[in-house]
Parts: sequence; structure tokens; C-alpha cells
Amino acid sequence: MQVIVCRDYAEMSKKAAAFVAAEMKKKPALVLGLATGSTPVGLYDELTALTKKGEITFKQVTTVNLDEYYPIDPANDQSYRYFMNENLFDRVDIDKKNTYVPDGTAKDPAAEGKRYEALIDRLGGADVQVLGIGQNGHIGFNEPADALVLDTHVTDLTENTIKANSRFFASENEVPRQALTMGMGSIFKAKKIILLVNGANKKQALATVLSGALTTAVPATLLNLHPDVTLFCTEDAVK
Ligand code: F6R
Repeated sequence: MQVIVCRDYAEMSKKAAAFVAAEMKKKPALVLGLATGSTPVGLYDELTALTKKGEITFKQVTTVNLDEYYPIDPANDQSYRYFMNENLFDRVDIDKKNTYVPDGTAKDPAAEGKRYEALIDRLGGADVQVLGIGQNGHIGFNEPADALVLDTHVTDLTENTIKANSRFFASENEVPRQALTMGMGSIFKAKKIILLVNGANKKQALATVLSGALTTAVPATLLNLHPDVTLFCTEDAVK
């Protein structure tokens, strides 16, 4: 894992954006795996700014998001589809037909998982996958467990994640109890991964990753097995 320690959130977002922009310039039809949450917002702002300046274009880019709550309507302002529209897709020159998020309205979530995995395969996996990390070490919604799941699947949210994510909802009761998420294998189909970690509250999870441990109790530690991971983190997440 290549480690890039940044002074603060602004620098982390800029450096991560420069990484993604360079990949977009190398391959205009990039398949970009995306995450939601608070961490990548600065990255999406920077990518928007670079697009507006004419330095990059999303015209040929395809995006594939890590996860979505289940069940949830895309019109719900807490859905990850809504988040992506607001924070990136509606601000850049991407063709929305080429933006994929698991379908939170699917009748059969297990079948939706299979459909989404087939889509990832059809795209040949992400060229670059953006990841954040949960305080408990989750990536996507792959929560700490005795065993992790390979492919895109429906999963129960842990109490820890429900609590952490309730800050975005009117109350904890409104947080959906399930999610559709890429599995560890779906994430590993990415050729390159960038992991963004901001803030002292991620310190413990990140320390376990950087110790080189491999444990399903901290799913992000499995990233130690991937051949091309770049970590962009803030100083306070490592010191
Ligand atoms: C979001 C996702 C999650 C977040 C993680 C960190 O698509 O997959 O794993 O990356 O929960 O969230 P923030 O960035 O809000 O701390």
C-alpha cells in the first residue's frame, strides 16, 4: 500500500483528485468506482472544479458505486443515488446513463446483487475504485464479521453503522436497516484502489490496516492483499 499523508482534508481531497484526473486523462473511458459518505465530498468538489476548468471530462466515463441503502427510493435525499447526483453527477458533463448505483427499490435484493455483480464484470471491474473506511473498519457495507462475502449482496447494517449514519437522517429510526453492497471480491476486481481516510476518529481502524494485519474483524485490512492501493490520509488519522 502506498501511503500519502496530507496536512488536512483540503490537501487530501486535492491529491486524490489529481490522482483520479491523471487516470481520466490516460483513459478517457475510465470505469470509476465511487463511494459516498462525508470523506469523498472534497474529492468530488475538486473533480467538479477540474471539469469546469476544462482539464478533465466525464463524457466517456462510466461510474459504478459501491453501495446503496435497502430499501430506499432514489428520490429520498438520503439515498446514495441522490447523494451522487448532488455531489458529482449533476455538476459534471457525465452521461447519467453511464452512472450505476445498486437499485434500492429492487423487489428482490438478492437478484439485484447478482445483476450488479454481472454489471461489474461486464465493465471489466473498476479501473479506479474510491473507498472510505468506517470507524469499525468497514469498506462499502462490508461490516466486521466472522466471514466476509465475495460478491454484491444485501446485508444488515450493524448498530455501530446505524448510529454513525444517523447523523444524516432526522432520527436513528429512519436509517434503513439493510444495504446492497459490493462484496470484497467485487472491490478487488478494481485495478487500482484509492482509500481516503480523514480525521482522528478513523485512527484506530487505519492503524490496524497499516499494521499489515489481515482480519475480517476489520474488513479494510484485506486491502493489504490488493496489489495497487494508494492511501490518502490526513495527519490526524495517523499521528
Ligand atoms: C460509502 C461507504 C462507506 C463509507 C464509510 C465512511 O459508500 O461505502 O463504507 O466510505 O462509512 O463514511 P464517512 O466518509 O462518512 O466517514
